[in-house]
Amino acid sequence: MVSKMGVLKFLSRNMTSFVAQASRDNAILTLARHQSVLSSKLVYSEYGDPPKVVRQEKEELRKPAEHEVMIRMLASPVNPADINTIQGVYAVKPKLPSIPGNEGVGEILDVGNGVTDLKVGDRVVPKLNAWGTWRTHAVCNADELMKISDKIGIVEAATLTVNPCTAYRMLKDFVPLSEGDSVIQNGANSAAGQNVIQLCKAWGIKSVNIVRNRSDIDELKKFLTELGATYVLTEEELRTTDLFKKGVLVRPKLALNCVGGKNALEVMRHLESGGVMVTYGGMSREPVTVPTSALIFKDITVRGYWMTRWSNENANSPERSRMFEELTNLIIERKLNPPKHTLIGFERYKEALSNAMSTKGFVGMKYIFDFQI
Ligand SMILES: NC(=O)c1ccc[n+]([C@@H]2O[C@H](COP(=O)([O-])OP(=O)(O)OC[C@H]3O[C@@H](n4cnc5c(N)ncnc54)[C@H](OP(=O)(O)O)[C@@H]3O)[C@@H](O)[C@H]2O)c1
Repeated sequence: MVSKMGVLKFLSRNMTSFVAQASRDNAILTLARHQSVLSSKLVYSEYGDPPKVVRQEKEELRKPAEHEVMIRMLASPVNPADINTIQGVYAVKPKLPSIPGNEGVGEILDVGNGVTDLKVGDRVVPKLNAWGTWRTHAVCNADELMKISDKIGIVEAATLTVNPCTAYRMLKDFVPLSEGDSVIQNGANSAAGQNVIQLCKAWGIKSVNIVRNRSDIDELKKFLTELGATYVLTEEELRTTDLFKKGVLVRPKLALNCVGGKNALEVMRHLESGGVMVTYGGMSREPVTVPTSALIFKDITVRGYWMTRWSNENANSPERSRMFEELTNLIIERKLNPPKHTLIGFERYKEALSNAMSTKGFVGMKYIFDFQI
């Protein structure tokens, strides 16, 4: 078994050209078909501080049964929801022991005799939340996975199902938006925020993007503007802006909030009468407060959004396929790029977990496990 893993690692590290990639894949597939595979996985048996409760284990995988497939994971991000799930403070509480990781991309290595809609070599992502993407290999029911295009890169594929879909749904499902309309959001430099900026740009919607001040604010503003942001303001600048008063920009019909607290209140203040604020995260850990006047005089609607709920309700819906197709095309056209990220080897999982857990924020980078490093 050890020598087989050695061969896999050698092949993974040393062959980069297209031809070499093909022969590497064939070698891996041949090994997977004829021998059992040793999977390395992260596991936690109690909720708590992620670097403390998460451990790495090996597991020998059997061949897939009739309706099962074997996959090898290629890449998987560390998202705030993954951390909150391990801490036991998320709305989803997996049965323990559990393998963490909500999103990621894998490749089919072997299929059971009864599997008709997936084949060896297909790129796949889990259909539902809490599937357990932080493992090098898995054997699972074919129904748990969804085929995605192999025309998009590994990082784009690994980060497709959470943030781009969240941004897409929030821009589509709450307020009818047309070209020239505007949207305001906080946490604009988050992965979700970067997706909102790019979708707005692609659809001709103006975006007002609020970020926290920092020493390299000009660099961040430049980055987000190049991504497609119409305006980027710090929280302080938002308080005194006359962007809307001067009629430079129509007031936003939609506000997207992943921060909460005073920041959310300030963002809500700029909404057009009858506008909607959608809360989808609470990074500041402060509650969302709604002024009475916003409800009475401006008839503001306050809503929430949870991608997990939408995906559960739409696991196999045509709307979900349409959304993935549209997002995939935007990625291929380079109108939708992955978030700023660092690829990190699976063995360095503690570092990846600690980075994502900073309560102060200012991380600036999404860590993504690259299972081939
Ligand atoms: N409801 C849903 O379905 C759904 C789906 C996707 C994401 N989300 C949520 O959306 C949020 C962003 O997710 P992501 O994956 O895009 O995260 P991410 O890329 O890791 O970015 C984190 C964001 O949070 C900000 N932040 C961190 N700590 C903060 C604090 N103490 N106060 C204010 N802002 C702070 C960061 O800004 P700084 O650079 O200023 O620190 C950054 O903009 C999370 O809350 C996540 O759970 C929800």
